[in-house]
Amino acid sequence: MANAPLHPLPAFHSKVIPVIVISHADQAVPLAHALLKGGIDVMEITLRHAAGLAAIERVSRAVPEMCVGAGTITQAHELAQVRSCGARFALSPGLSSDLVQAAREAGLPYVPGVMTPSEALQAKAWGHDLLKLFPAAQAGGLGMLKAMAGPLGDVRFCPTGGISPANLVEHLKQPNVALVGGSWITPLEWIEHQRWDDITHLAQQATQLTQQAQADRV
Ligand code: 3PG
Repeated sequence: MANAPLHPLPAFHSKVIPVIVISHADQAVPLAHALLKGGIDVMEITLRHAAGLAAIERVSRAVPEMCVGAGTITQAHELAQVRSCGARFALSPGLSSDLVQAAREAGLPYVPGVMTPSEALQAKAWGHDLLKLFPAAQAGGLGMLKAMAGPLGDVRFCPTGGISPANLVEHLKQPNVALVGGSWITPLEWIEHQRWDDITHLAQQATQLTQQAQADRV
């Protein structure tokens, strides 16, 4: 791994990162406002749809108070691409040296994905101590996070995949969980039907559950 510096994640308040698939870039700015209204100041716009790049660009230009990141990064060249669109961080579903290196070269804060202790060890050796656990439920969920807390005590996770309002609090209370990701706040169909108030409502619910988890953790 070449010696380019690692970049820490930008500051944002929310502990829940909405994972977003968006099919029309012109829906990105109203979506960002709907999330902000519900107390969520971070969003992961995935590259799963061709509109993803333009959506990132629009939010980054029009909604500076929203910390917009890029998700589903699977190819090294996408890291420079999303950075030039204004993404402030990026995440991948998995781990590879090419992606880790490209994120460093792009100067972009980056969260690689892992599913096993071996992958977590490799990511740590490359300097990453915040990792996306994906797919979290299939990897073992809370049990897996608890098991990794001992031997990998200095690694923090962003479990994603299978998180919902029903299990959000217990995940956020887990000491090695820094953040969680999930798609439940921003269903594609709701975005396409511009159901902004409904999205704000789910964002508010996630914000309240986060506050509950933080109060329980103290
Ligand atoms: C992702 O797309 O990163 C995850 O699959 C999100 O999982 P979820 O749909 O279970 O929240």
